[in-house]
Amino acid sequence: MADTDVRSLAELLAANKGHAVALTGAGISTESGIPDFRSPGTGLWNRIDPMEYLSVDALYARPETFWKYFAEVFGPTLAAQPNAGHLALAKLEAAGFITGVITQNIDGLHQKAGSCTVYEVHGHLRTVHCQSCGRTYPMREALALLKKEPIPHCSECGGRVRPDVVLFGDMMPAAFSQAVAAVERSSLVLVVGSSLTVSPANSLAFQTPHLAIVNREPTPADGRADVVLSGGAGDTLSAVLRELNLA
Ligand code: APR
Repeated sequence: MADTDVRSLAELLAANKGHAVALTGAGISTESGIPDFRSPGTGLWNRIDPMEYLSVDALYARPETFWKYFAEVFGPTLAAQPNAGHLALAKLEAAGFITGVITQNIDGLHQKAGSCTVYEVHGHLRTVHCQSCGRTYPMREALALLKKEPIPHCSECGGRVRPDVVLFGDMMPAAFSQAVAAVERSSLVLVVGSSLTVSPANSLAFQTPHLAIVNREPTPADGRADVVLSGGAGDTLSAVLRELNLA
């Protein structure tokens, strides 16, 4: 990772201080032990077809299989801890460089790291809700129920419950409109750990005059970015903190 690139990113953040927002993807959480989706070899979608197992259709048509894979794939995420990349973004927010984090991740690690303004555009793993009466429960309770029954049901009305994550085929949540408004108020988007291949979240990388990307692999937005760094998120963002005397 060239120091000049880190310095360029630090200068870009300083020049857009207070008018920048981060946009993160699964790549910022791989250093917390959570596999991403599209990394060659290790990405989740190399071994599971998301449409087959983690879509709205799968939830309704094959609920037992849906919940089996959901628990297997996302259950361990509940115990994950934030890494240097998450902590660096929290520090950049606290120091006023970024106004918050738009995240495609459902792992809640930005909040655990201390980020205050987090737009979870693909939902989160914290709760499930009953599709009949709307009552919400902690995800841990639903996963515990799976030890006794193939599909978790609402203890209040007996209806089926579903995770509060955005599944393939779901409408986007209110957090997405809030994220769009946050980008409209910004002059810089800092992308960290996303392939920028899933819409509409990826469109947020194409709306501001300035763009910076920290990602191991090339992305479709590299051509319009002021700065592209291909190093690891944790190391790169920690180096940016040092450059800004925030370490
Ligand atoms: N540092 C920097 N980049 C990394 C790191 C790391 N430590 N680890 C992985 N990456 C990069 C990969 O090279 C990849 O390009 O992060 C990117 C992650 O891309 P995806 O796996 O496609 O994840 P994401 O962009 O978040 O996917 C968007 O797709 O399946 C849906 O809902 C799911 O929110 C997800 C959405």
